Amino acid sequence: MGRVFVAGSINMDVVATAERHPQVGETVAGSAVLYFPGGKGANQAVAAAKLGVTTSLIGRLGKDAFGADLNAFLRAQGVDLNLVTETPEAHTGTAIITLANADNTIVVIPGANGRVSPDDVARATLAEGDVAVSQFEIPLPAIKAFFRRARSAGALTILNPAPARVCDEELLDLVDILVLNETELGLLAKVKLREDEIAHIIDVAKTLEAGLARIIGVTLGSRGVVALGDGEHHVITGRKVKAVDTTGAGDCFVGALAAQLASEATLHDALVYANAAASICVQRMGAAPSMPDPTEVSQVLGPADPEL
Ligand code: ATP
Ligand code: RIB
Repeated sequence: MGRVFVAGSINMDVVATAERHPQVGETVAGSAVLYFPGGKGANQAVAAAKLGVTTSLIGRLGKDAFGADLNAFLRAQGVDLNLVTETPEAHTGTAIITLANADNTIVVIPGANGRVSPDDVARATLAEGDVAVSQFEIPLPAIKAFFRRARSAGALTILNPAPARVCDEELLDLVDILVLNETELGLLAKVKLREDEIAHIIDVAKTLEAGLARIIGVTLGSRGVVALGDGEHHVITGRKVKAVDTTGAGDCFVGALAAQLASEATLHDALVYANAAASICVQRMGAAPSMPDPTEVSQVLGPADPEL
């Protein structure tokens, strides 16, 4: 069984809940302010670790109260933090989130995450069968160095290009599996997408696949996920649940997918599993604290999963 290595951000999510989102220039009264561990890297690492796979996080925390809280939380979730460094020159990454009607807006202040460097990833002891995961909340040179190292060790690389940002060919050449949402797919493929027909999304993803020759998974929120690869496509229908907070749903999906692939699941089974895991995550408040354990995922996964 392989391990999961995640190089990525660690944030404290400061969440304001309100009945609706304010418009630009407007003030609305909120209901509560909540503090949840988050950051795409940390969320994905917690998702993988809670699902029972040995998981190491590579990243940086500030030397402050948020950093200490996040360190304790991540340790308690079973994430290996040997490659997480304390950075006195910068504050711990912080995300300011407004949550209304289960939907969010997020402003991320990178702080220490912005200091993650190629040197930070150099100590990762990746090996064949391991899965290396990253996202776009740490600097590009660190992601490239991480994936180069993973490639030379024979590990699988997964990039979640979020938050959406144009990425260069040199990075994409190092990626085995790209997991992205509709907005990120639109940006990469240079087309405008918003709740488009599944068939159209597959066509757009195919234009990328043709150039990149790798597996592409497109997460579609409550509609589920489509993936192309191995010469076929997979369509996994979203589970019907009552979402209260979708923050971290994409991260739960990516972490669960990585954990499954490290455990040698087939791509199809891993997608079905990750879709079920993410449907549990959206029914709880917060990002990292919402990640499910294997018992919870087994409970929602029936013997046969619905497919289109
Ligand atoms: P976020 O940025 O909020 O973390 P994302 O945009 O990266 O999310 P989504 O496509 O919204 O990712 O969601 C990821 C996965 O989570 C979906 O593919 C699906 O499996 C699950 N999911 C998200 N929202 C819902 C929902 N309302 N009901 C059921 N499953 C959901
Ligand atoms: O993907 C969700 C995450 O994005 C949040 O936890 C927040 O920290 C931002 O990084």
